[in-house]
Amino acid sequence: MAPREDSLSISQSADFVVVANRLPVDRMENPDGSQGWKTSPGGLVTALKPVIQAQGGAWVGWGGSADEHIDPFTFDGHGVIPVDLSGDEVRDYYEGMSNATFWPLYHDCVEHPEYHREWWDAYLRINERFARAAADVAALGATVWVQDYQLQNVPEMLRAMRPDLKIGFFLHIPFPPIELFMQLPWRYQVIEGLLGADIVGFQEPGSAQNFVRLGRRLAGLHTLRDKLFTSDGRTVTARAYPISIDSQDMLNISRTPQARDIAQQLREDLGNPDRIFLGIDRLDYTKGLRPRVRSFGELFTSGQLDPAHNVYLQVATPTREGVRRYQELHRDIDEMVGRINSLSGRIGRSPIVYRYSSYPKLELAAMYRAADVMIVTPLRDGMNLVAKEYVAAHDSDDGALVLSEFAGAALELTHSYLVNPYDLNGLKNQILRAAGDSHANHARRMRSMRKQVFRHDIDAWANNFLTDLGSVPQPA
Ligand code: G6P
Repeated sequence: MAPREDSLSISQSADFVVVANRLPVDRMENPDGSQGWKTSPGGLVTALKPVIQAQGGAWVGWGGSADEHIDPFTFDGHGVIPVDLSGDEVRDYYEGMSNATFWPLYHDCVEHPEYHREWWDAYLRINERFARAAADVAALGATVWVQDYQLQNVPEMLRAMRPDLKIGFFLHIPFPPIELFMQLPWRYQVIEGLLGADIVGFQEPGSAQNFVRLGRRLAGLHTLRDKLFTSDGRTVTARAYPISIDSQDMLNISRTPQARDIAQQLREDLGNPDRIFLGIDRLDYTKGLRPRVRSFGELFTSGQLDPAHNVYLQVATPTREGVRRYQELHRDIDEMVGRINSLSGRIGRSPIVYRYSSYPKLELAAMYRAADVMIVTPLRDGMNLVAKEYVAAHDSDDGALVLSEFAGAALELTHSYLVNPYDLNGLKNQILRAAGDSHANHARRMRSMRKQVFRHDIDAWANNFLTDLGSVPQPA
């Protein structure tokens, strides 16, 4: 049965509030043709939903469409507080400042960040709108957890509106080294924005250290290890909380008869190759698709990988299609794959099978199950959950993960075949090595990575963060 939806009055009633750019629900059509909502897939929602349900909490976020007004409502035992954005605001705050400035700047400038004053103005205005929505729904002394780079100024704004709240912030993407961050014309304001939180969480210890250094250098704060002491007498903690997945759920899905059937059918559809190499990524320039496709192209055309026995399946999920760099990448990958397939393989059988499409979890689990070698080679990535999903879902010891050193996941999945994705020959060699390694080596590596992913799952992540936030003294 679909969860009940009721309208909601936003009087300060929620003891736990999540603030994220996106809502935890997606539109769907009910059997009677009316419009309804369903829970969004994804780890963050899975992890935080039980917490907000248990605490009569609420989630503040954008519904995903421009120029649409949605009233607050309750859904499945928690509040949903939509923040409306106009078309211009989507362009300036979401596509612009968030995804053409912060996104590339925080990912080692793998593409040039653009700096536009009107984007920054919109970013501040929209951050204020999110902060206001959270301030209106949070109960006295509530805990508010703000998520990610789209909302870095919310902590400071929210603290000014509601000094009684405990505020946490978690950055899902890398936090850059000082030398890069200093490019940002609004660098001081962003650091001040984040310092409004009691705890600022990062994926990696290196990101937390970058933030502490900036607090010292830009805001002139006194710091001690992971603590920053603000001028208004507060202590802010900057610490790493590496995010994870719902590992058991992934495994359960991949073990269903449906997933097994889909995996078998997939292998047949691909021509029963000896080996399936798999990549699954949002079509984002940080994911390293250009060097990856190029490496496979060289391996196939040189015959080091025989197209008669090997297939490389690449799924690219459409994302941020309104942003120029993403459109360029889309064109480039289409062209590269076409060129490689026209030069190698034979009629009726292409060595690269490329899908530009999103897939439901069941089909993804089946792909992970079928893949002999998983290829995850971002140029920079905060964590990379696909790597962890493969480890959880590939229910056999004979699998292998080729993983970029520049993904946060590399710190945990040390038994993957680690690569520098900028080094094309190194990448090609590591792909061949992973594919050709012995069963004993595959088994040893897979077992050790599986242990890691099942011990440190998404619940452990949320618990660690919220336990630390819980032990912050209640503001006076
Ligand atoms: C990354 C970001 C998230 C974002 C997701 C999808 O994982 O850290 O904040 O939601 O990408 O991107 P989108 O722009 O579609 O929300």
